[in-house]
Amino acid sequence: MAPVRMLIDCDPGLDDAIALLTAAHVADLVGITTVNGNVGIDHTTHNALAVAEVAALDVPVHRGAAEPLVNAPADAAYVHGPSGLGSVSIPDVTRTIASDDAVSFILDAARSIEDLQLVAVGPMTNIAAAVTADPGLRSRLGGFTLMGGAAVGGNVTASAEFNIWADPEAADIVFRMMAPLTMVGLDVTHQVLLGPEERDTMRAAATPAARLAADLLDYAVDRAGELRGTAGAPIHDACAVLAVTHPELFGGSDHPVAVELTGTHTRGMTVVDSRFAPDGDALVRVLRTVDAAAVIDLIVEACTTVGPPAP
Ligand code: RIB
Ligand code: CA
Repeated sequence: MAPVRMLIDCDPGLDDAIALLTAAHVADLVGITTVNGNVGIDHTTHNALAVAEVAALDVPVHRGAAEPLVNAPADAAYVHGPSGLGSVSIPDVTRTIASDDAVSFILDAARSIEDLQLVAVGPMTNIAAAVTADPGLRSRLGGFTLMGGAAVGGNVTASAEFNIWADPEAADIVFRMMAPLTMVGLDVTHQVLLGPEERDTMRAAATPAARLAADLLDYAVDRAGELRGTAGAPIHDACAVLAVTHPELFGGSDHPVAVELTGTHTRGMTVVDSRFAPDGDALVRVLRTVDAAAVIDLIVEACTTVGPPAP
């Protein structure tokens, strides 16, 4: 079967970077678009270029939105480090962006690539702008999957997950105009924790991509231990990639989902309405279960396989 053609919109970001490596292994990654999120757009774009260069990915990078629709930019540098790639330094990146118009690239790709799978793993600013410019966007895609939200809980606040919280107006547009979609939220991603064992396996592979992934994971594991008290780090974004290519590893149900915009304590919450047996297209497949061991194995396999061999 032909590999899934995938476009990833991201804010690299430790787990975004691992998601890019994963996508390069399990899919035909046709393009990367960047957005302000974990860190500023200059860093997220540089980081996407750096990952593509280290792993020798033949994939264009298109720069996107520098700030949310309404919010002032707020980052997650406390998780990902000031550069967005932890303590990893990749100074001599020679790759350059294919354009600074991520939205046009997304719209053009949706029109020209059959069955394109669009996967958003950062704040939804680019996606919201794209579907606002072309309300028929969803109908031109093979599918749309996002890492974000949660049926229960949050990570930035008690009720909001970062990708939604960072630009809730954009997320509101996306949940209203890009259904049917699959939501890979914290309910699933907090079950997919990679730790020292996976880091050591990656480091032992010794390829450029595996060494990068090991360094990123090392930092993520340390921060997760400090911030969450867990032995492993949730590799959120790679779950969204694998939910597209390996749907059999995930379980969920279809519901209307709304994004809260005005709640004092709930702005950025994804309100999953589980009351009714839904029908119709304005539905969100909310994932809740995952074969975490199989997903973790696939992420490790990807990071130790993609890119040039060990020197
Ligand atoms: O809440 C997790 C999400 O926020 C992930 O996409 C991570 O990269 C950050 O963007
Ligand atoms: Ca991300």
